[in-house]
Amino acid sequence: EQINKGNYEHYMQKEIHEQPESLTTTMRGRLIRGGSCKAKTVLLGGLKDHLKTIRRSRRIVFIGCGTSYNAALSSRPILEELSGIPVTMEIASDLLDRQGPIYREDTAVFVSQSGETADTLHALEYALENGALCVGITNTVGSAIARNTHCGVHINAGCEIGVASTKAYTSQIVVMAMLALAIGGDAISNEARREAIIDSLFDLPNKVREVLKLDEEMKELAKLLIAEQSLLVFGRGYNYATALEGALKVKEVALMHSEGILAGEMKHGPLALVDENLPIFVIATRDACFSKQQSVIQQLHARKGRLVVMCSKGDAASVCLGGSSRVVEVPQVVDCLQPVVNIVPLQLLAYHLTVLRGFNVDQPRNLAKSVTTQ
Ligand code: G6P
Repeated sequence: EQINKGNYEHYMQKEIHEQPESLTTTMRGRLIRGGSCKAKTVLLGGLKDHLKTIRRSRRIVFIGCGTSYNAALSSRPILEELSGIPVTMEIASDLLDRQGPIYREDTAVFVSQSGETADTLHALEYALENGALCVGITNTVGSAIARNTHCGVHINAGCEIGVASTKAYTSQIVVMAMLALAIGGDAISNEARREAIIDSLFDLPNKVREVLKLDEEMKELAKLLIAEQSLLVFGRGYNYATALEGALKVKEVALMHSEGILAGEMKHGPLALVDENLPIFVIATRDACFSKQQSVIQQLHARKGRLVVMCSKGDAASVCLGGSSRVVEVPQVVDCLQPVVNIVPLQLLAYHLTVLRGFNVDQPRNLAKSVTTQ
């Protein structure tokens, strides 16, 4: 039923707009709201026999490529916070190039939409040889990664056809937030935090429905950016990954140079690029990094940067610091799920830029949905 475009012109457009439904399917049967005496909890059937081993591991290492890597990166802080276990990140090809250390005491989590990406699959073979517990997070039941890992979670986002991954990305983040909750267990010290995340998960499809209303606004923004050579995207904390993923979307489909930049590194190079011509997208939604992002915005203004700022609803005045930035206001959710909401306007921007620039949305030149050769 998902293989046609329905009322949409392109698969990517359809997949962006069906995220409220795909997220609902991802969470179905896995969140327990709890009665009066039962705490809210998460059930991930594919992991239940391995949770004890995961909790005892010396390190959790995420391994993936492209968008799947970015989804894992966005989930790193909540996994560190709830599990207390060191979490490291590996791009599959780089791990293989270095033959980096993987130990028996590691839990290696392989994230892949298709479950067939050659680099990720080879990294899985390598981790198995080294004795790590291997967990798969894929969208494809019966895929090589699903079959060859010890245990795992299907993201159940439904078939994704557009080469640029959209709905799989948001479902991956939700699965990894649930993974963090499951590994974190039921420690009393985390109870309020856990409940806030679970409440926010229940409400997330509604918030994504709300942010999708920015479609026209992002089309207008795309019209302004249509002839640009380059777009920088600044983010930090939970939204460093959003900056990387937003830039990847623009690069992949709109064929425009775009770079995701860790805002904390701004002074160590990127600031040299800032002038009155280069468009810069700054993600500054409310979280523990907000005041640092305000100071980044001030510094970019001081260099006459051409800014588009993404902020939480009602925060426009707090981010238009002495300049005439364009503002994109998004609904606020709990910090670790904010990347799910924040990526949507960037997906819409990349989509409209591609259509306006006359490029192939669903089959960008030179790219494949699943890269099965190394
Ligand atoms: C290709 C696709 C990307 C995808 C990456 C990883 O490069 O074009 O959209 O993110 O592979 O794919 P996977 O199936 O492993 O998530």
